[in-house]
Amino acid sequence: MTQDIVILAAGKGSRMKSSFSKVLHKVGGVPMVNRVLATASTLSNAKLHLVVGHQGEQVEANCQDFSANVVWQNDPQGTGDALRRVAPFLQADGATLTLYGDVPLIRASTLEKMSALSTPNTLVLLTISLDNPTGYGRIMRDEAGKVTAIVEQKDASENELAIKEVNTGILLAPNNHLQTWLASLTNDNAQGEYYLTDIIAMAARDGVEIVTVNPENEAEVAGVNDRVQLAALERELQNQQAVTLMQNGATLLDPSRIDVRGELITGQDVIIDVNCVFEGKVVLGNGVEIGPNCHLKDCSIGDNTIIKSNTLIDDSQVGEACDIGPFARLRPDTQLANKAKIGNFVETKKAFIGEGSKVNHLSYIGDTEMGANVNVGAGTITCNYDGVNKHLTQVADNVFIGSNTSLVAPVKVAEGATIAAGSTITKAVSEKQLAFARARQTNKDNWPRPVKK
Ligand code: UD1
Ligand code: CA
Repeated sequence: MTQDIVILAAGKGSRMKSSFSKVLHKVGGVPMVNRVLATASTLSNAKLHLVVGHQGEQVEANCQDFSANVVWQNDPQGTGDALRRVAPFLQADGATLTLYGDVPLIRASTLEKMSALSTPNTLVLLTISLDNPTGYGRIMRDEAGKVTAIVEQKDASENELAIKEVNTGILLAPNNHLQTWLASLTNDNAQGEYYLTDIIAMAARDGVEIVTVNPENEAEVAGVNDRVQLAALERELQNQQAVTLMQNGATLLDPSRIDVRGELITGQDVIIDVNCVFEGKVVLGNGVEIGPNCHLKDCSIGDNTIIKSNTLIDDSQVGEACDIGPFARLRPDTQLANKAKIGNFVETKKAFIGEGSKVNHLSYIGDTEMGANVNVGAGTITCNYDGVNKHLTQVADNVFIGSNTSLVAPVKVAEGATIAAGSTITKAVSEKQLAFARARQTNKDNWPRPVKK
């Protein structure tokens, strides 16, 4: 069956106390509504509709990557009102799945279970039984166990409030009936809203079969109303991701101290120490080891590379068997060939470091093409910026650069050259030359050191 998927995101979210729309707050580094859109996009034959209202411009701008039909609900009058605004865009047959933009951890597998039960004469409800059902709509059933209605918390009698089975809000209704039901909703209730949940009683009345499905876990249907709930779902997602990483063959020294804000792909026998943060898309090859307190963003790390503590890597490619850190900073467009070494307090940016080359201590290497087996002494700096433009430094294979060298770009150092420590290199150095570019030392014999009077 074809499916319309409506994601409700027009609500106010006052309890977030935020100038940003609630659904744009992030869980696992991704805005909640984007998570729901991404999950919805995996379902087959789906046409997405996104209902926006409060701070809707922000939501609309943020969701442009998804080809969703954005429907405005400028004056939100309830979930039924939201669906009514989408009604003109729904396909003639098929069914409509309603999701919430502030329920971010819903799983595709659960939605697929619902879809599998959908027919033109079936309404599928996602329900869950809660020890504390306060706040939710309650599921009414007759003696035979058939669902007859949903009663909202504020409209419920004492007996009804005792019911533990609640409406998660996620439901799948056949379009042929849905249009009729939506048209006959009223706002004659405790909140003066148009309740989408009123369609359940209509379905029962019309002889449409109402079936229920349960989610795999409670977090799937948990909504976010405030930042405490946001933090709780963040922890839940981080736990789930940590479990998946371990199941896929990574060792996490403490699964409660890793944060993946995006996508982390790990090879076999990866070891990740505590307090590491992964952002964007990060790929770790087999046997990669990551020390404590590292922050890796949009990068790929080759097999058997070791990254020591407190290293930052951003938008970079690292080869195999490299050795990085502690306290290294790889800035965007750094590329390390296999077996390269970047040591403590070294910053690189837009730099290619050739195979087996070493930049071990206290250096800045920017806008640089470096060959293989180069040894860069401590405190070496590429002077790549003249205040306006960036210039290139080229260092060929087997160059040895003495400590405390300044390479004033643009400049080239040819294969096998040696640079004396403390040099300021402003001119090209040819193959196998030794370049001295520092003041000569003069020694004075028996020099009378000043003495205090
Ligand atoms: C709703 C259900 C309730 C269910 C609960 C689950 C109704 C009438 N009640 O109640 O049975 O147990 O969710 O969390 O459906 N929204 C709009 N436009 C509106 C109103 C809401 O887009 O006019 C969006 C909100 O942004 C939110 C979602 O719909 O994402 C749910 O709205 P909310 O007011 O939180 O519904 P509840 O009262 O919690
Ligand atoms: Ca409400």
